Formats: sequence, structure tokens, C-alpha cells
Amino acid sequence: MIDRTISIAIVQGSVRPGNFTAKAVAVVADELRQQSQVSVDVIDPATLDLPLPGAASENSGAEQLQERIQNAIGVILATPEYHGGYSSVIKLAIENMGFPSVLKGKPVALLGVAAGQIGAIKALEQLRSVVSHVGAIVLPGPVSIAGVQGKFDEGGNVIDAQTDGAIRSVGTNLVHYIHDNLCPKMALEEMVRAEAA
Ligand SMILES: Cc1cc2nc3c(=O)[nH]c(=O)nc-3n(C[C@H](O)[C@H](O)[C@H](O)COP(=O)(O)O)c2cc1C
Repeated sequence: MIDRTISIAIVQGSVRPGNFTAKAVAVVADELRQQSQVSVDVIDPATLDLPLPGAASENSGAEQLQERIQNAIGVILATPEYHGGYSSVIKLAIENMGFPSVLKGKPVALLGVAAGQIGAIKALEQLRSVVSHVGAIVLPGPVSIAGVQGKFDEGGNVIDAQTDGAIRSVGTNLVHYIHDNLCPKMALEEMVRAEAA
């Protein structure tokens, strides 16, 4: 039987205790889990033993990270804005995705959160450039959440509908992109394989 599940991996770009990137990721994951035939793998780099670039060690988390990204049809990278850029946590994750990168050819959606009122624009611009450089298909319309500390209640719910919708759209836009652009190609490949069998 053909598995038509769309698997999405989400990489969390903050390991700070109580971080807001993880709260935003939880909302995206919640949205994706409500979609039919979509599976979600939330990757928390804090749970992986990722070496610094070039300092590869045996039994590091790099292999597991690459396998989880490889298994995903689409990827979401979620970053906080730190010092006017994306986080070193996200860069470390990207460095551990291989060279060439397992992101190559995959659709990637970007989400940024920031304490400041201009949001995570700078982080997202820089991240878009790097992710595009490694050969991923970066979806247009990255979502930036400004003043993120004021956006969640204690239960992790987003307090205003507009922000909630914007965060959720990161997941739905990626799934729509995959449905419209990748699913027809995958179905065609299945047909050709079935005919050749
Ligand atoms: C090292 C560091 C640098 C930061 N730099 C910025 C910044 O340049 N602009 C900004 O708006 N917020 C900055 N912040 C605040 C974060 O955007 C804020 O903590 C926000 O909640 C997102 O990060 P988090 O996911 O770790 O919570 C910084 C926070 C840290 C820990």
C-alpha cells in the first residue's frame, strides 16, 4: 500500500529554558497534527549531541539529525533573533546536516520570533540566504513574530488570533506547497514504477 503521509520536520532554534521559539513551534505542530495525512517530527537540538563544525565525533547526534531530516518531505526552521541574526543553535543544526546538505531540494519554511518590536526580520533574511545556499527551496513569506514575550498565555496559547493565524500558516503553507508541487510528481513516479513492475 502506498503511504501518502506528508512528513514534516520542525527544528527548534532555541535551547533556552522556557524559550518562546519552542512555544511557537508547539503551535505550528498543533496545526499540522490537525491536518489529515500529515506527520510531525519536532527536533530539539538540545536532545542531540551535535558537535561543533569539523569536530565530528562518533555517536554524535549528527547522523540522527540527518536521518530525521531525510525522512521529512518538508522542513520548518524556527529561530529566535539573537544579536541581529538567527541563532547559533540553528546554524549548528545546519552544519550537522551534511555537506552536501540533506536539506538540498527540500521545501523549507521559516519562522522567527523576537523580543524586539521589529521582529525577527534580520534573522530570517540571513537564514533564508544560508538555507537557499545549501540548495533548499525556501518558501516565500517567512513569518516573523515581534514582541513574542507578550504573545502567549501561561498555558502556551497565543493570546491574539492574528498572531495565532500567522504562526499556524507556517505549517499550512508548507503543506499546501507540497500538495501542489511535490505530490503530483510523487504520484507520477509511483505510476511509472507500478507500470514498470
Ligand atoms: C543571546 C541573545 C541575544 C538576543 N538578541 C536579540 C536581538 O538582537 N533582537 C531581539 O529582538 N531580541 C533579542 N533577544 C531576545 C530574544 O529574541 C527573546 O529571548 C525571544 O524570546 C526569542 O528567544 P527564545 O526563543 O530563546 O525565547 C536575544 C536573546 C538572547 C538570549
